Amino acid sequence: MMDSLMQAALDARAHAHAPFSKFRVGAAVEDEAGRVFTGCNIENATYGLTLCAERVAVFKAISEGARKFRRVVVAADTDTLTPPCGACRQILWEFCGNVEVVLVNPRGKTEVCRMSDLFPRPFDASFI
Ligand code: THU
Repeated sequence: MMDSLMQAALDARAHAHAPFSKFRVGAAVEDEAGRVFTGCNIENATYGLTLCAERVAVFKAISEGARKFRRVVVAADTDTLTPPCGACRQILWEFCGNVEVVLVNPRGKTEVCRMSDLFPRPFDASFI
């Protein structure tokens, strides 16, 4: 069932700047106070400077003072639900820890997992 955080991630796809791939992704994160931050992918002519929806959402949240997170939603229009890329997994792990991650598509398909399923042996500040 779609809840408001899932809908926020789906709606965020509308703002994607994806002229190169045409692949629109939305993300939404909810902090411990229930505040919601959304993001979309923002591509760049150099390709390599592209930012994924997940990192945009997390960086927006961090820059607005959010620090602890309850849930992350990733939305893309694929039948096999789209998981976060490797770079986003690193960022999600460092800022959100072993948070619940929900994958959704516009046809109402959903899947729930945790960061530890997606990213089983992370490198983080505990090693430094
Ligand atoms: N992308 C995301 O925004 N998040 C993902 O989880 C997978 C990939 C974006 C990056 C790029 O703009 C486009 O999707 C194709 O890779």
